[in-house]
Amino acid sequence: MKKRNAIYPGTFDPITNGHHDLVRRAASIFDRVMVAIASNPNKAPMFTLEQRVDMARRVLADVPNVEVIGYSGLTVDCAREHGLTVVIRGLRAVSDFEFEFQLANMTRHLSPDIESVFMTPQEQYTFISSTLVREIAVLGGNVSEFVHPLVEVELKRKRRVA
Ligand SMILES: Nc1ncnc2c1ncn2[C@@H]1O[C@H](COP(=O)(O)OP(=O)(O)OP(=O)(O)O)[C@@H](O)[C@H]1O
Ligand SMILES: [Mg+2]
Repeated sequence: MKKRNAIYPGTFDPITNGHHDLVRRAASIFDRVMVAIASNPNKAPMFTLEQRVDMARRVLADVPNVEVIGYSGLTVDCAREHGLTVVIRGLRAVSDFEFEFQLANMTRHLSPDIESVFMTPQEQYTFISSTLVREIAVLGGNVSEFVHPLVEVELKRKRRVA
């Protein structure tokens, strides 16, 4: 049978329980899932690429067929370099659809051999985004329901040094 290897790209600033839910689902379908963390300097991330990769590796250590890497440049180039033929993206609500649809078509235009696959999280994760988690944490709110405890510690550390 053909091996199916997927890339799950994003900024993961930081990784949330929504991301984790999606990775677990993807890992049960694909032979290998590579979580690819984009350096994305134009998004001015709160955490450095190294910190984002390190947190994601630690949070996802319990999922066996998953690897985490950092990358800069085009996602399609990263996918090709690692022999990954499927791009996984998450859909939380209709609001995600427009951008994801545009991105999927651009991906196909740039690299016709790569397919995009969309997954939805369990309901309790549908309203979680890294942006909201960062905003709540910066303002001293409780994010323990949305992120892994080790990410919560890192967010608190950021708040102290900020
Ligand atoms: N809670 C979630 N449930 C399902 N998919 C998600 C969830 N959070 C993010 N995703 C998906 O994961 C991929 C990577 O997302 P990204 O790293 O941009 O996270 P984000 O939470 O959207 O962060 P930001 O708020 O900084 O944009 C995207 O396809 C996004 O739709
Ligand atoms: Mg996003």
